[in-house]
Amino acid sequence: MLRNPLVVANWKMHGSRALCDEFSTYLKPADETDLWIATPTVYLSTLNSNEYLGSFVKFGVQNVHSETSGAFTGEVSAAMAKDAGATFAIVGHSERRTQHQESDQFVAEKFQACIDAGITPILCIGETLTEREADQATDVVRRQLLSILNRCGDAAFQESVIAYEPVWAIGTGKTATPAQAQSMHSQIRDIINLDQYHCRILYGGSVNPDNVQSLWHEPDIDGFLVGGASLNPVSLMLITQIQNSN
Ligand code: PGA
Repeated sequence: MLRNPLVVANWKMHGSRALCDEFSTYLKPADETDLWIATPTVYLSTLNSNEYLGSFVKFGVQNVHSETSGAFTGEVSAAMAKDAGATFAIVGHSERRTQHQESDQFVAEKFQACIDAGITPILCIGETLTEREADQATDVVRRQLLSILNRCGDAAFQESVIAYEPVWAIGTGKTATPAQAQSMHSQIRDIINLDQYHCRILYGGSVNPDNVQSLWHEPDIDGFLVGGASLNPVSLMLITQIQNSN
């Protein structure tokens, strides 16, 4: 099944109105690569109302709550994100799993909330260094995927996105080798029999314009979830363009 390459920028808790303006000035479309930006929620409408960026970028959020509404101070629901113009939401990023003690079950509830609201969930999964060294990487990834399958069913993966992000590669400057990433991506495809769905699997963890080329060559890597390097519009653009030059 043909899957369009996709690059998702994860700004994390970075950015400003000035950065939104900078993106509007320097970011240019890459013909064959979809580009999505996961912005801090407060900048969603600033970016969404920018006609130029809106002509080739989709915007979304970095997290949603599992409930639709209620007494959850500081939280935003998937339905609200959609109402404010988000087309997708990241769920289960390792920083949230660790810093906010988000369980596999809670992540599955958020994944379902995105589907119910009509926005695309980007499910982040990946093992820690200790788990990789103990040869448990595949077991961890399988457990994280099965919790979604059990809660939402396999059809839930129909139009969703999965981001394999080994925790030891996030923000550390250490990238998985193309072989390590390819091996895990192909196992992910097998675990949930993804070939029947248009589900893209992104790699994430210290991706930048210098190391992205060899990763783009791997058959089961459909694109990237990019943190640090996505804060610079030129770096982000280069990452999308390198795919087109392959
Ligand atoms: P990084 O972050 O590119 O800065 O490693 C990736 C992510 O956490 O999504």
